[in-house]
Amino acid sequence: MAETLNKKHGVEGYIHFESGESGLPKAVLTNPSAGAKLEVYPYGAHISSWTTKYGEHIFMSKKALFGNGKAIRGGIPVIFPQFGSGKIQNHGFARNTDWEVVGTRVSKTEPITVSIDLQLKDSKFTLDIWPHPFETTLTIHLSTKVDIEWRVKNTGDNTFDFQAALHTYFTVSDIKNASAVGLKGVTYIDKVKGGERKEEERPAVVISEEVDRVYLDVNQNPILLVDKERENSLKLHRTGFRDVVVWNPWTEKARGMADLGEEAFPKFMCVEVGEIGTPVTLPAGQEWLGKHSIEPSLQSSL
Ligand code: BG6
Repeated sequence: MAETLNKKHGVEGYIHFESGESGLPKAVLTNPSAGAKLEVYPYGAHISSWTTKYGEHIFMSKKALFGNGKAIRGGIPVIFPQFGSGKIQNHGFARNTDWEVVGTRVSKTEPITVSIDLQLKDSKFTLDIWPHPFETTLTIHLSTKVDIEWRVKNTGDNTFDFQAALHTYFTVSDIKNASAVGLKGVTYIDKVKGGERKEEERPAVVISEEVDRVYLDVNQNPILLVDKERENSLKLHRTGFRDVVVWNPWTEKARGMADLGEEAFPKFMCVEVGEIGTPVTLPAGQEWLGKHSIEPSLQSSL
């Protein structure tokens, strides 16, 4: 599998495919001039690692399961067409379905950018779950930052609604050192408190218990992820994603998750961008585009 992908989409010195966990093919993007490397599984279009001169930015669970219809715990799961629970499986089917690699390229004009396009189209499998023809493409650009462009096209004859999110697990030195900055004054749905709506009062959201919040219609852009013990912070820019989710399961819930475990919860903070509170309504033939860029910068330069 990796061999075939290398022949078709490999780019010497920049993009190659290899066998990843459970033998699933994995694309490895290297950007030597930016000092960055990124790994993405076509299974789920799932980014599992992204390193820069500041080190690893992505958390992966040591107990993550790969393939066989399971969602991969950690990384950047692609949530579509449903966020959370609802009519179909939790967080939809895109994160645990094989996507196709449809393109790779390297732009050699500065800043050098290494890119890959992954695509998922409706199939008997998806139509049995969700009866709508669609085509969705996730393009990942690796430079000194990561830029993700996500397109969803309605290829059917009828309008459909969908939710979408990039459910990023950021690695942190310890959850007690991390905060999400830029959410003050925003109304959120508190999923831990049965969906109560509240207003965020803190300029920096820190986590010291189970937190599961959907911040609605966030104006601030970028949101910052700050980790007191790291050299860098991350600027999280978004276009087309109105909402931001902050999630950490904390002790008990993490203990109950076979693919995570109690020891893992202090090691990550999920700060997700999404279209969740009000689903996107997409008429026949139309396309939705969401963009997310994640940019590391020195704490002192903020
Ligand atoms: C978060 C949700 O985005 O994902 C939580 O807000 C959920 O409610 C979490 O528990 C993890 O979901 P899953 O399906 O990957 O266990």
